Amino acid sequence: MTSRPVIDDLSSFWMPFTANRQFKAAPRLLASAKGMYYRTTDGRELLDGSAGLWCVNAGHARDEIVAAIAQQAATLDYAPPFQMGHPLAFEAAARVAELMPAGLDRIFFTNSGSESVDTALKIALAYHRARGEGQRTKLIGRERGYHGVGFGGISVGGIVANRKAFSGQLLPAVDHLPHTHDLEHNAFSKGQPAFGAHLADDLERLVTLHDASTIAAVIVEPVAGSTGVLVPPQGYLQRLREICTKHGILLIFDEVITGFGRLGKATASEYFGVTPDILTMAKAINNAAVPMGGVAASRAVHDTIVNSGAPGAIELFHGYTYSAHPLAAAACVATLDLYRREGLFERAHALAPKFEAAAHALRDAKHVKDIRNLGLVCGIELESRSGAPGARAYEAFLKCFEAGVLIRFTGDILAFSPPLIVSEEQIERIFDTVRNALAAVQ
Ligand SMILES: Cc1ncc(COP(=O)(O)O)c(C=O)c1O
Repeated sequence: MTSRPVIDDLSSFWMPFTANRQFKAAPRLLASAKGMYYRTTDGRELLDGSAGLWCVNAGHARDEIVAAIAQQAATLDYAPPFQMGHPLAFEAAARVAELMPAGLDRIFFTNSGSESVDTALKIALAYHRARGEGQRTKLIGRERGYHGVGFGGISVGGIVANRKAFSGQLLPAVDHLPHTHDLEHNAFSKGQPAFGAHLADDLERLVTLHDASTIAAVIVEPVAGSTGVLVPPQGYLQRLREICTKHGILLIFDEVITGFGRLGKATASEYFGVTPDILTMAKAINNAAVPMGGVAASRAVHDTIVNSGAPGAIELFHGYTYSAHPLAAAACVATLDLYRREGLFERAHALAPKFEAAAHALRDAKHVKDIRNLGLVCGIELESRSGAPGARAYEAFLKCFEAGVLIRFTGDILAFSPPLIVSEEQIERIFDTVRNALAAVQ
């Protein structure tokens, strides 16, 4: 394989969610990837402890997915999705639907998690309007929620840094539930924390405040990822479901991270036994090989919207040039085949106790304030350095990178979500590297 020369001038690319000046002064560039490893442009191997960005669940550059994309590119490179179709779009939708919770088998394709979220919010509004309750326009998100970067997503999201520069123009009719992070009661929980189901009852307060007849939907991540891995308290999601059902409010699960095996099941909904009305997905839907996202809607939601249109009329004025792009759809079908053939969701389930034990073995490591985990996802929260929040986690991330392990960090929380093909030895190596990194940072 020939490799391209490394470019000297990094100034043109304005990098997303990156400290551009800091990065460009000391860049970390990836050249290739295979299986559990990246290779950097200076030839170093990096063990992938984060599945890219929580998305490469089957491991990198899998032959079957690469072949499916190549073949599709040569056969049908692009097909317009408006008033035209191509067979793989329908096959991919049917295959995704098979993995969704019972009844959520109508799939709308997008190109990212952010688009999936905005699509889901629009579907919720369109649903209530179609059934004659168009006054239900309020959307309820949650503090510390991450729902991507569209205006809809940051409005229902609850991460201050993502909102404050845009705060004058967020969606107007939004409120937020409290987050569930409570180290006083739940520090070092293994799996779901015992304390906090009552926090779902705050939805009743919001219903009293706004009146149910004005509220369209509640959106939450079943396990919050980007904000630092917040596992829902036992009974919390069940309670949210009950309250939504009682008041005719749609429940949206944002499963952009939890979908496709991260918890050892196809969805978090399946894992927790709680079925939303709408479910958003992206990332591992096609192993992140081509940008793709999707929204699964219940039959009731879909049929209400689709059956309300006049015959011959477009029912939902929404979609993307690249919805169900042929390369993304080909990668999706090949990825879902791979997940099934290799039993990767079951593998994640089987590895979860080992992963949990390896993570919690760091309880006595330097700077560690909390460790939390579920399935193959884990967060390690560090004591912040006085006057420099986030610095310690960044330095630990750099030390791990130098030692050949890629992890994520957000604020002072380290996050782990390896591909589901990770071995027990690789799990040990990831957490051993973190222990050494933490010992070395101030
Ligand atoms: C729960 C959740 N929703 C939405 C998104 C946004 O996805 P994207 O970056 O593909 O737009 C993310 C990304 O991490 C996510 O974790």
